[in-house]
Amino acid sequence: MARDAVAEVRERTDIVDLISAYAPLKRAGRSYKGLCPFHQEKTPSFVVFPDSQNFHCFGCGKGGDAFTFYMGVEHVEFREALTELARRAGVELSSVPTVAPEIDAHRNRLIELNELAASFYANLLLNGASGAAGREVVARRGISPEMIARFGLGFAPDAWDALLRFLSERGIDPALGREAGLLQARDGGGYYDRFRHRLLFPIRTREGRTVGFGARALGDAQPKYLNSPQSVIFDKSGLVYALDVAKDAIRSTDQVVLVEGYMDAITAHQFGYTNVVAAMGTAVTEAQIGLVKRLSRHIVLALDADSAGQMATLRSLEALPAALDSEAIPVVAASAGRGPTPQTMIAWERRLNAEIAIVRLPEGKDPDELIRLAPDRWPEVVAAAQPFLDFFIAGVTSGIDPGNARAKADAVKRVAPVLRNVGDRVVQAHYSGVLARRLQLPEATVFAEVRRGAQRTAVGASPNPWPPPSTGIPTRAAHEHHLVALLLRYRATCAAVLAAVLPDDLHDARNRELLAALQDSRIPLELDAEAIVAGLDDSVADHAERLLDSLDQTPAQYPGQTEHDARMALGRLRKERYEALLRGLQQQIGAAQEAGDAAELTDLARQLATLVARQADFQPPLSPYFRDSRDGAAAGR
Ligand code: UTP
Ligand code: MN
Repeated sequence: MARDAVAEVRERTDIVDLISAYAPLKRAGRSYKGLCPFHQEKTPSFVVFPDSQNFHCFGCGKGGDAFTFYMGVEHVEFREALTELARRAGVELSSVPTVAPEIDAHRNRLIELNELAASFYANLLLNGASGAAGREVVARRGISPEMIARFGLGFAPDAWDALLRFLSERGIDPALGREAGLLQARDGGGYYDRFRHRLLFPIRTREGRTVGFGARALGDAQPKYLNSPQSVIFDKSGLVYALDVAKDAIRSTDQVVLVEGYMDAITAHQFGYTNVVAAMGTAVTEAQIGLVKRLSRHIVLALDADSAGQMATLRSLEALPAALDSEAIPVVAASAGRGPTPQTMIAWERRLNAEIAIVRLPEGKDPDELIRLAPDRWPEVVAAAQPFLDFFIAGVTSGIDPGNARAKADAVKRVAPVLRNVGDRVVQAHYSGVLARRLQLPEATVFAEVRRGAQRTAVGASPNPWPPPSTGIPTRAAHEHHLVALLLRYRATCAAVLAAVLPDDLHDARNRELLAALQDSRIPLELDAEAIVAGLDDSVADHAERLLDSLDQTPAQYPGQTEHDARMALGRLRKERYEALLRGLQQQIGAAQEAGDAAELTDLARQLATLVARQADFQPPLSPYFRDSRDGAAAGR
């Protein structure tokens, strides 16, 4: 079934058109040539084959079809590439569903219910008799009618059954309303409204579909904001508020400003600053950065003085108790005090190829107040954003007395590991210099300190060094080791990914051994990694221990991150395998063409077609989100 949707989208997508939007192409015989969008080059070695609808770069070896291209260039997973290319090609995915149709329909139904509720609440705010209190609040806060409409704001009256009755009158099963996050079940049976006496902010996807709500108490009632519960349609850590109405401005200004609150985003838009979106108070996640990064690489975090201060100083790695490295702790609100560490910011910049800058807002002022106070000054505020490393170094070194040797040593100890993770040597040297000047230390001393840790990892490595010397670009082997390390450490959390790994995915014999042990159903899931290692053959056990050591101690940034990381690592391995097969075939085809061997050519063409059609088989296993659907599909059959 998945094959059909994929095939249909592939048929209707012209790969030359698709790629031309990213890299100008020139006709060269039957194919097209241009500069490769995946690596830096001066002479074109990137070729697009309209006949086979494939591309191949003879420089960096990347190749594949329209999906591979889109996934690579936009950094998205297969499912998202499919959705977007389907949209462009005008293929209705629901008519050729890629997940079990009944599950997709169910999710859609839950979203529709949220959309229905949004219109119910919006009407009450506009002109409902019970909406007067809400109208008073928006008037007091100075939210314009245009913004009320643009953001679809609503009001939930002070009643237990306003929405419940509205839904019942339409014959909607309240159990479904509960599943959609709108109703709560009573202990003794029956249901009641989740949102009562609150101003409602519909939370929408980038495509503008309402998947949940943030609900602001009118006065000092607690909690201040009540959000929709986590569900198959609502995952706050993967959503960015106002992205649907900000995306055009983000593209055209090539900048996105991320603020903390709903009200902050709305006020910014009201005053014409429409490239502003909100992280909804959660610690910013990689998923959120990834989402906005696709529209612009230039990301400005406008954090209130508190969060900014924490980011600059407290939230460095060593300040985080190890216990936080747990999937069980949800990232709820800013008040939970968890956020990206300097280490993760650097990793995101590298991995997502984003530029993150930080503005520290004046004490006690959020963007909402700031913009209302002096609307014209917002651009200055944003322009004052500092590149993350400048900001971080300034934070760590602020207030250090140049006569205090201990304090200076501490500061270097804090910054050095972060700089060590910077991929680019020049950038590293630059910031070593910045740090040295700030602390009035010789540059060479600071730089040596930064490089020292890097050397330590290289020394004492085995003949087959692992972790491999860092080149900034993780190698295939690094992905493989990382995957197996995650599966070993987090065997239970990553069970779904573990089940999907095939021996063929792994090249290293020790990793295959380990995989076999990890997949052995006789070993209880709750057995920890050390216990598993203890039961292994010595040769493999050494390797396994090294894998465990290699896992960095960066705490998970959001629930499910570990599993996501494992899935991504597996995805990369599969992608490489697919591309290697493709490359091999293309080489053989070239040879057959030269030799004029028509029979061989036909055979190879058939193999190529089969491989390309099987591309979906090389996708990483689906996320839990879609895995549910797949299980559902299996059960339904
Ligand atoms: P703020 O407390 O700064 O709220 O939380 P705000 O948006 O400025 O609201 P006003 O101006 O006081 O009315 C920032 C964001 O954190 C999330 C919300 O997304 C909020 O917009 N938050 C905050 C919660 O989800 N729950 C809470 O209890 C508090
Ligand atoms: Mn506020």
